[in-house]
Parts: sequence; C-alpha cells; structure tokens
Amino acid sequence: MAPTSQLYIVCGFAAIGGFCFGYDTGVISGVLTMEPFIKTMTNGSKFLTAMQTSVITGLLLAGCFVGSLFAAPLCERLSRKYTIIIASAVFNVGAAIQVAATNYDMMIAGRFVAGLGVGSLSMAVPLYLSELAPKEIRGRLISLQQLTITIGIMVAFWVGAGTQYLDTHDSWRIPLGIQIAPAAVLMVGTSFLPFSPRWLINKGRNEEALAVLARLHSRGDESNPEVIAEYEEIIAQVEHERTVSVSSYVELLKGTVRKRLILGVLIQIFQQFTGINSIMYYAPTIFQQAGVPGKAASLIASGVNGVLNVLCTIIPIIYLDRLGRRIVLISGAIVMGVAMLLCGIVMGATARVFENPITGQMEVDMSANTAASYFCIVMVYVFVAGFAYSWGPCGWVYPAEIYPLSIRAKGTSITTAANWLMNFVISLFVPVMLTTITWGTYVFFGCCCMVMAVSVFLFYPETKGRSLEEMDVVFSGPLLAYKDVKNAESKFQRGYLKTEGSFQDVSEKV
Ligand code: BGC
Repeated sequence: MAPTSQLYIVCGFAAIGGFCFGYDTGVISGVLTMEPFIKTMTNGSKFLTAMQTSVITGLLLAGCFVGSLFAAPLCERLSRKYTIIIASAVFNVGAAIQVAATNYDMMIAGRFVAGLGVGSLSMAVPLYLSELAPKEIRGRLISLQQLTITIGIMVAFWVGAGTQYLDTHDSWRIPLGIQIAPAAVLMVGTSFLPFSPRWLINKGRNEEALAVLARLHSRGDESNPEVIAEYEEIIAQVEHERTVSVSSYVELLKGTVRKRLILGVLIQIFQQFTGINSIMYYAPTIFQQAGVPGKAASLIASGVNGVLNVLCTIIPIIYLDRLGRRIVLISGAIVMGVAMLLCGIVMGATARVFENPITGQMEVDMSANTAASYFCIVMVYVFVAGFAYSWGPCGWVYPAEIYPLSIRAKGTSITTAANWLMNFVISLFVPVMLTTITWGTYVFFGCCCMVMAVSVFLFYPETKGRSLEEMDVVFSGPLLAYKDVKNAESKFQRGYLKTEGSFQDVSEKV
C-alpha cells in the first residue's frame, strides 16, 4: 500500500497533541525556580516548600491519570476525533488558568485541568494514529507522537532557559502561555481531520470509512484492491466482535485480551521504570551531581540532553517498522541498563558522598575526578539516546495496536493511565532517592532496565507488519513469546484463515 502525503499530514497534525504533552510536562521545572513565580505562589516568600513543589508538579500528572481514563467513553461514543478536540479545549482552559494564576490555588487548579487535557490527548492520539495507519508503517506513524513529545520538552526547556533572566512575571507567564498556541491550532485543525475509519465501521458508517481509507491509503481510489481488502478485514472483525460481544470492561479480563491488557499495562509501567523522568525532571541536579560545574553549565548539559532526545527519536520513525518492536525494545533496555549501571557504579566508586550539614541530605561530589565525572555525563546521554530510539516510542506504539477494536479505547485508556500513575510515583520518589541512596538510584534503574529486556524477550509477541485485525492471532500463541517467534509466520498463516467475513481461529479465543 502506498501511503499518501495526506496520511502523513493528518497524522503529523494529530501528533501536535504530543507537543502539548511534552511542553506541559517539561515547562514546569524551569518555572519552579523563577523568583517572580515563587513570590506569586507564596505571597512574597523566597522559597517554595518541598510540598508545594511536589503538588505543582504532581497535580498535572494526577490530572493526566484521570483524563486518560475519562477519554475512553468519549473516544467510543463521540469518536477519537472529537475527543482530541475536547481534550485540546480542556488543555487550553488549564493553560489559561496557569498563565492567569495570581496564587498557589489557582496554579494547582490550572495544572490539574491541563492534566485532564494532556491525559486524554495521550490516550486518544496514539489510538487515532493506530487506526489511520496502514500496517506497514503503523509504528512510524504512532512514533510521530513521541517525536512531538520530545520536541515539546525541548522547546519548553529552552523557552524557560531564555526567560529565566527576566525579573518580571513575564519570566513564567510567557513559557506557560506559549502552550496555548499549539493546543488552539490542534483544537481548530482537528475538525478538518477525518474520523478514524475503524471507529466509523464500528458505528455502521461503512461508506464514509471506505472513503477515508481510500483517501489516505490510495489517493482516493476506492477500487484499490488493498484498500478493499483492508476495509473488508475491518468489517469482518467488527462483525466477529459483535458476535462475541467484546465491549465491556469485564471483557478486558478474559482470554487473550487479558494477556494483552497485562502486557500493555506492564509496557507502560516499564517505560516509566526505565528512569527516563529521573533524568527529564531532575537533569540539572543530576548533571551537577555528576560534576558539571555551575548552574549555567548544567543548564547547557540539560539542554543538549533535550536535543539528543529529539534527534534519536527520528531513528524509530525510520526503522521501527523494519526492525520490529521486540528487537527495538530489548536492545533499548540493554543499552539503557548498561548505561545506568555503569554510571551508578563509577559514581559510587569515585564520588565523595557526604551528608550536607544544613539540609541533612546526602550529596555527591565528583569534582575531584574529572574523567569519572565526564564518563557519568556521557552515560546519561547514552541512556537518553537508548530511551529515545526504543521505549520512548514503543511504550506508546505497542499498547495502541494490540486490542480488539470494540475494546481498544478502554484498553488503551487503562494502559495510558498506568503510565501516568507510574510517572507520578517516580516524580515523587526520585528526589528522595537522589538525596538518600544517591548513585544507588542509577543502579536501581539499571537493574529495572535489565528486567525489562528479559521480560520483552520472554513474553512480548512481535506486532510489526500485522494489521490491527490480526492481533487476535498474534496474541493467541504460547505465553513464552520467544518460542513462537521463529514459527510465527507459518503459524499465522495456518491460524488466520479469513473465510466469509469471519476469523476461524479467533472466536473461541477472544
Ligand atoms: C514518556 C514521558 C517522558 C518522555 C521523554 C515519553 O514517552 O511517556 O514520561 O517524559 O517520553 O521523552
């Protein structure tokens, strides 16, 4: 199938949702350190308490958790498209409250409301992209969201770095206000995007679905054999799912769908347990610990980190559909694991770890050993590059492609909520870990990455190149997925016999 430029434009546009996600999660670390902001939040004091910092950061994540759960019924009833429009509108309300905030309460309310929008977008956008994409490039198109997330984080960082020298309220209102523009563009522009063809067929709007498939996959040619095959495959799947009524939350706990739910939830939890946000949220502290001298230098080191994150996310956009999800996830986890372990071990072996007499917290000083300190910084970069080409995109691609259509929105919303919950947990614990077990933090995340590599090798079936309708068969193999990898192709051809609009091998397994 020859994907059209329209397909790329539509998917690229929807992926603006990722920019809002990245920007809003990335912008706050800089804002939290700005004096005019602190004064407004505290009625004139010079410091935010640790509690206030955690609440301002964490309430966005809590909103995201709730938003991703609420988005499921909207996606099902109103459509993926209208959910994206509503989520952008909600996000804008939250962003506007943050910009206008004159006190702490307004700020945290704004963070929570924006979170509702980001959470819904983070669930609806990959779902929408997965349903528009032809199977050959589904990984690439869903990865566009990760690319825009990383661009959002990078832009937020540099905008914050640029305005932090202003000593007026513009220093924090500008970075918080900028995010309104992309969300407004997304809100208005999405009304011109097509509905998901799979959602349309599920609603019985078959002719419209065929027109969308033809428009995006074959330049409008509704008689294209591949478009017709895809269209018929979706219809057959919808009819089949109707006969086995796969649509309530309870169905998520049955048969191969339960296995998919567990794998989907775990992949999202794992994504957070790579430790990526320990770097994303606390990069300046980490680079200072690793021996980068002075605030400006550690700011630059963190900025480079953001650029690297964007650049390495381009790799899966090119290769994910060729290499497959398994190899990318396993190799990425190993690269990250080795980098984190080496960073932790070298820091542990060479740094002076001491208790700060004023704060009572443990600190790390690597200034005596420049070579070791540079080594640790390089390892942090290797880690980020490893995440960017693997678990960053795949963490969102895999869950969005594995569920049956009638329950896809519910399944994706639960997996997405798991991601936000763990993001919240990590954001609470990392500062504590960095100031108690210091270098042990990196060893901990390094070990987690190794566990992930083994888990994917053992349990995660390959999904590349399979249509969304073929996932029933992909997940009907043995529990130990690695045993199935070699004979997957032949098993697939045996098991997946499309006959008269129904899938033979599937009915008793779903
Ligand atoms: C993760 C975020 C993370 C970002 C970093 C996303 O895939 O879900 O938690 O901050 O990648 O690039």
